[in-house]
Amino acid sequence: MQGFQLGERAALLNPDQIATQSYQMQDWQKGYRSLTEEYDYWIEDIEGTIPSELNGTLFRNGPGLLDINGQRVHHPFDGDGMISAIHFSNGRAHYRNRFVRTQAFLEEQQAGRILYRGVFGTQKPGGWLANAFDLRRKNIANTHIIYWGEKLLALWEAAEPHRLHPETLETIGLDYLEGVLQPGDAFAAHPRIDPASDLDEGEPCLVNFAIKPGLSTTITIYEFAPSGKLLRQHAHSVPGFAFMHDFAITPHYCIFFQAPIAFNPIPFLLGFKGAGQCLQAKLDQPTQIILIPRNGKDPVQTIPVDSGFVFHHANAFEQGDELVIDSIAYASLPAIDAGDDYREVRFEKLDPGQLWRTRLNLKTQTIERQLLESRCCEFPTLHPRHVGQPYRYVYLGAAHNPTGNAPLQGVIKLDLETGERQLWSAAPRGFSGEPVFVPRSSDPDAAEDDGWLLLLIFNAELERSELVILDAQDLSQPIAKLRLKHHVPYGLHGSFVPEVFAS
Ligand code: CO
Repeated sequence: MQGFQLGERAALLNPDQIATQSYQMQDWQKGYRSLTEEYDYWIEDIEGTIPSELNGTLFRNGPGLLDINGQRVHHPFDGDGMISAIHFSNGRAHYRNRFVRTQAFLEEQQAGRILYRGVFGTQKPGGWLANAFDLRRKNIANTHIIYWGEKLLALWEAAEPHRLHPETLETIGLDYLEGVLQPGDAFAAHPRIDPASDLDEGEPCLVNFAIKPGLSTTITIYEFAPSGKLLRQHAHSVPGFAFMHDFAITPHYCIFFQAPIAFNPIPFLLGFKGAGQCLQAKLDQPTQIILIPRNGKDPVQTIPVDSGFVFHHANAFEQGDELVIDSIAYASLPAIDAGDDYREVRFEKLDPGQLWRTRLNLKTQTIERQLLESRCCEFPTLHPRHVGQPYRYVYLGAAHNPTGNAPLQGVIKLDLETGERQLWSAAPRGFSGEPVFVPRSSDPDAAEDDGWLLLLIFNAELERSELVILDAQDLSQPIAKLRLKHHVPYGLHGSFVPEVFAS
């Protein structure tokens, strides 16, 4: 880890390359305010034209509340999950948002104060004595939202999914996936959809995992048919503590990056810190790549790599004897200290996320790494047809300037064949998150970039959010900007489905 860390940082700190800051902190901070209202309306304030072929629903999830009655959460990851749904049909768009009515959300809204500790440092009022040995987990359902097996599911990686009504976004309740999960089980927030599973005669399948961390860690793999029926489930134990937010799939493997992180639970137990603040990087040790065969039968392989910290993978594929894995890596683990205010983060003091390619030769067990994109980036996405397969284009939320660490302000398209890049930026007053790629058609011969990028931007000038529609082949000018009547706090992940679900 040290070798690449030093080289990369030296390059970043070349003073000639430090451009002027592309944003104002006060503007960025405004995107982190609670949205307490729940809306239903047709979007009328539109610049440009919504493509008439764009039909379906964009679902997004993220923290909607950054405080409860003025008591602030310590970190946005502790904010209650709120779903936005934008339905597109025949050139029009409708917006709706609803909070996931988790048990804890209802209790806290009723009480008007924080009743639960958050994993990322939110504490109940009253100091450590009020928090010590309170190990209840608040399932905040705030990380991702998927539609699979005719169920709309809000996901949070440490607990069960919540099912919502796809038209009204009304919370139906915890969902155990027809008995696959037991009460208290985890279900990760990063499922991958294999578009044509080798194990299922070319049918699509949804692959997800669950982590049970401890002195050794259990990783359970689940694969589901489009009907929601369980196809495969197998569990594996790996040595050591593991914090793994995401994984990648290929036709034959589930791929995990287990970073060298230790967990010291004492400050959590004693009420000083959230569990997520008790993680500590062990810089002298490598990351372990864990390969779990999807058939559940072949042995698990573990290969060390100096990769830095990875939260999200872009994609992975098999090529001859090699596995190719593209991931956003950080030279150091961004810490969430107990005393810090996340809104005062010094971006320039932190390492940026960058896109790296890891080539793992399965025969020789050797590894080669290559920096694909040095610009600060996160939230990679691609054409759904290419998940687990060789691909040419990756799209990422990106900072405005090519060097340094900064908030995401746009989207970058990277052509992995030619190295060509296109950037669309909302700087200086716009801030972005995860782009979602929507194919224009289901034609299997259509170009890989024939489609749109949907991107929710916080416009600090208007103090409102807007949904930007970009032509994925030409990012120079948005096709349309749909201005919402309000802001949407910076979110996490979402998905697009061709169903419109208009009520
Ligand atoms: Co994520």
